[in-house]
Amino acid sequence: MSVGGPTPGDELGGYRIQAVIGRGGMGVVYRAEHMTLGRTVALKVVAPELAADPGFRERFLREARLAASLDHPAIIPVHDAGEERGVLFIAMRLVTGPDLGTVLRGSGSLPTGRTGDVLAPVASALDVAHRRGLVHRDVKPGNILVEPPADSNDAERVFLTDFGLTKRTDSLTAITRTGMFVGTLQYAAPEQIRGEPVDGRSDQYALACVVFQCVTGRLPFGGESDVQMMYGHLSLEPPPATSVRPDLPAGLDPVLARGLAKAPGERFPSCMDLIQGLREALAPVRTRLVPPPAAVAPTRPAPPPTPFAPPMPAAPSVAPIPGAPWPPPQPATWPPPQPATSPWPEYAGSAPAPGPRASWKPALLVALAGILGLVAVSGAHFDEPGPGAALLAGPQLILAALLAISRGRAARLTWSGLAALTGVFDVVVAAGVSETPFSIEAVGAAVLALAGAVGGFRSAPGPAKPRA
Ligand SMILES: Nc1ncnc2c1ncn2[C@@H]1O[C@H](COP(=O)(O)OP(=O)(O)O)[C@@H](O)[C@H]1O
Ligand SMILES: [Mg+2]
Repeated sequence: MSVGGPTPGDELGGYRIQAVIGRGGMGVVYRAEHMTLGRTVALKVVAPELAADPGFRERFLREARLAASLDHPAIIPVHDAGEERGVLFIAMRLVTGPDLGTVLRGSGSLPTGRTGDVLAPVASALDVAHRRGLVHRDVKPGNILVEPPADSNDAERVFLTDFGLTKRTDSLTAITRTGMFVGTLQYAAPEQIRGEPVDGRSDQYALACVVFQCVTGRLPFGGESDVQMMYGHLSLEPPPATSVRPDLPAGLDPVLARGLAKAPGERFPSCMDLIQGLREALAPVRTRLVPPPAAVAPTRPAPPPTPFAPPMPAAPSVAPIPGAPWPPPQPATWPPPQPATSPWPEYAGSAPAPGPRASWKPALLVALAGILGLVAVSGAHFDEPGPGAALLAGPQLILAALLAISRGRAARLTWSGLAALTGVFDVVVAAGVSETPFSIEAVGAAVLALAGAVGGFRSAPGPAKPRA
């Protein structure tokens, strides 16, 4: 093994190193194969300077044991942990997919509904750990691994890694004696920054930061420097998510504000409660986020299916600018106008937008039925054409025309109801004037009535009036 750590082909703790997967704050992660079992794993090898600290070594192995004892589908299975020739390592399930940090770097944010889907398993895993008294301490997108389904019978899996494996050197303080923060500052709870005891609620704060980032594409407290970021976590109100993405439902803001509360006691009772709040706040999005007609050009081809959103359009900086009003002024209308090419697949993937124009299908149905009715009426009274036939067919055609040009569900229901009524009237009349009660006229009129009703009831949903 070289001084710079293991290299491909080296052997460590019964594993053969194959390749470097990535580098993190604590060391290097390799793909490696167990030499007797043949199982391929992710082998995290701790940086030598950390491994040299006896306190760290002891805590690392203890927490690896604790993490391995947690049985949850979203907690990365830990197969092994140990030390060989002073090199500390931990072997875990190899996840064949990107971490959420990589995903967000590529896409900016997640499609709105997807945030809950990806983070619910993480929240559930955290709650299980918290009930066992274990705190993760480093919840961040880089520690959330997303494995795509292996085949069509499989489902996506999400894993939380690095339980308790922060590179901190003291069990209570996050700031070292030299004043350097050793956790991941972007997601650190105020109490963690202050070096106070942490518990599950500190993980919840970090998770709320991740939620914020997933839905907006920005961190709640960004800033140019670590000091600015720390100041944000410690002293600033988190910006409303809707100030970054005004199309998000306003109900999301209080949910994130609670998850990001400075005082742990003001946060949700559990991480799943935070995700539940998120889902409830986003629930109306699928029905409320009806794109205005301009957002979905009729000829625009559907984008290729992708599990993640394409990059966010430029959004205002999250960090408050000194002197500027905060929160920034909100647009008066909701939802705000969307760009012609919507960056959010939940828009693009939805059915064609119901615009103010009536659908042609019910109108065509009714018009055809009207003609059929006319033909039927004329046929039945072939020997006595004239006002009798027109009397019966006229109202039907007028109603059909009204139905064809009417806008909005209420109007169509009215016209189709009247069409149905006159159809019934026709049936009654036909039964009286024809030789047999079920003459072709009666059948034609019944078809007309049915078509009127079906056409009206199946008309495009919702009123055409613009939303407030
Ligand atoms: N079990 C795993 N399977 C696949 N890739 C992993 C696994 N664990 C970590 N990685 C990847 O290795 C890289 C470094 O991880 P890590 O050392 O944990 O970084 P950090 O210190 O930022 O958490 C990351 O890109 C992560 O996605
Ligand atoms: Mg990690």
